[in-house]
Amino acid sequence: MQVRRHQSLSGARAVVALWLAGAVVSGCRTPPVDHRPARGTLLVFSDLRGALKPCGCSPDLQRGGVDRIGDYVGVLRTGEPELPLLHAGDLLLDDEGIPAGREGQITRRVEALAEALRIIGVQAATLGPSDLAAGPAWVERSVKTLPLPLVGTNVGAPWSTFLKRSLVLRVDSLRVGVLAALPPAPGVTSPAEALRAEATVLRPQVDVIVALSSLGLRETKRLFRADLGIDVVVAAGQDLKAVVTDEVESAGTARLIQSHIQGSHVGRLELSVTAGAPVSLGWALQAILWDRPRHPDIAAVMKRYDADLEAINLKAAGTLPPLPAGAPSYVGQAKCLECHEQTQAFIAKDRHPLAWETLEKDGKTFDLECVSCHSTGYGQAGGSILGAMKGLVDVQCESCHGPGSRHADDGDTATIRRVVPESVCVTCHNPKHSTQFNYDTYRSRLLVPGHGR
Ligand code: HEC
Ligand code: HEC
Ligand code: HEC
Ligand code: HEC
Repeated sequence: MQVRRHQSLSGARAVVALWLAGAVVSGCRTPPVDHRPARGTLLVFSDLRGALKPCGCSPDLQRGGVDRIGDYVGVLRTGEPELPLLHAGDLLLDDEGIPAGREGQITRRVEALAEALRIIGVQAATLGPSDLAAGPAWVERSVKTLPLPLVGTNVGAPWSTFLKRSLVLRVDSLRVGVLAALPPAPGVTSPAEALRAEATVLRPQVDVIVALSSLGLRETKRLFRADLGIDVVVAAGQDLKAVVTDEVESAGTARLIQSHIQGSHVGRLELSVTAGAPVSLGWALQAILWDRPRHPDIAAVMKRYDADLEAINLKAAGTLPPLPAGAPSYVGQAKCLECHEQTQAFIAKDRHPLAWETLEKDGKTFDLECVSCHSTGYGQAGGSILGAMKGLVDVQCESCHGPGSRHADDGDTATIRRVVPESVCVTCHNPKHSTQFNYDTYRSRLLVPGHGR
């Protein structure tokens, strides 16, 4: 997006400034003041958190994904080819950061994300708390592949070597200054001072100043209680469960808009600037639902990524911890059914036996971000691990009742867990993947004739 001069508007502003100052312009005809608003539209999405696509584990997580964002933005740009797209919040990582053994997958994921963002066409982005937590060395390496400028206004060295303090975008007939407020981290400075100073520098060159905030809603509101000289702030970094509205609010002298995490929505921001008046805006969030088409080139990027995970993760999976002497191992459901045939009726209706098929349909059976909860005894002594799943795919009896080799030898009830406490369920049914989980209601669905009833 190129920055071009926009004479008429700055001309209008200058006239208004003279008029406000009471200056008498003598000897030349006063040009008429242009009261028509200058308008511009841009798109905003937030907190991709490195995911090419949200996991889809619960119905409310079945939205977003770079493939469908690409389709949506592409369709809009057939009518409005210059429509810019900005990203706020965590771009590369979520709060799990870079777990041991995942370095290879995450490096490859960032590469795929860069390819997808190039195809989508993103004009600017900022970083969020999880990105910053990975440290400047990792982030600098990772962002080298990204096809877009990154903005971070309140940073010192070494972040400032690869983050721009601000940038100016041409948005229809407007020049829009873009700033970004980053949350506290080593090398990050006070956002209030940095934003105010940068806004002062930018103001003469632009019509509107937009700040992308990765501070979350509450901290963003707190920050903007003071007048920072910014017109619009986008509050990213919300919780998964936050009730995100597309109502425009006031935060100090700025207008505040909210956005969803995991790129589940794309917002459309309509700006309208009349010389001498506050910026007026419209904001609408569009959910990116999974019934819309996928951008074919981005779908291909995702398919290559999934295929590459096999080699990357078979190498990274590691080995299981040794089984302590006398401790039970996982034997698999077929063994249990030899004596518990009556649970067959339960299995026939339960969803746990379909957990692996769910990953197969998605091409995700080598994805370390998925397999542990869609299989049995993953990473446990005597359990399963990529490359050695040995009949322990799907969520089987022993996921809930514990490893059962000793019990299966003689049917002794002292060596098996009958009651399955909530703490076992939530190793998988955590708030990030099972948003509706409630122990009592979910447990009651498992209790059928032949299984606990
Ligand atoms: C922390 C554990 C965990 C991880 C990691 C996980 N899942 Fe799940 N997944 C679950 C649970 C639990 C459910 C059932 C949620 C519910 O119904 O409340 C589920 C359900 C699903 C479903 C919905 C199945 C249906 O048709 O109803 C899909 C699809 C899915 N997961 C895909 C994935 C993919 C793809 C990944 C990796 C990107 C992944 N999961 C990672 C735990 C997990
Ligand atoms: C050799 C036969 C046999 C095998 C194999 C077997 N069980 Fe059992 N199991 C029994 C008997 C007998 C009981 C006690 C009577 C009952 O509750 O049905 C029992 C009880 C249980 C109980 C209830 C324990 C209690 O305190 O009431 C659970 C849970 C259980 N088995 C799970 C499993 C699982 C999981 C497997 C596979 C790893 C398995 N069983 C394999 C014979 C077996
Ligand atoms: C090892 C991981 C794991 C454990 C432990 C686990 N689940 Fe699940 N659960 C899943 C997955 C994965 C699915 C989704 C399977 C699919 O559809 O692909 C699921 C699905 C379900 C469903 C079906 C949801 C629906 O919308 O129909 C219920 C109910 C459920 N789990 C209850 C429980 C309860 C209660 C516990 C503890 C007693 C538990 N689960 C323990 C992984 C787990
Ligand atoms: C998703 C978790 C989960 C899975 C998977 C699961 N169970 Fe259970 N099971 C439970 C819960 C919960 C109870 C009820 C325990 C209680 O009494 O509080 C139970 C109860 C039982 C009981 C004792 C109740 C009775 O009817 O005598 C047996 C035996 C049992 N399960 C066997 C199995 C076997 C065999 C499998 C695999 C085919 C299996 N379970 C799979 C959660 C699970």
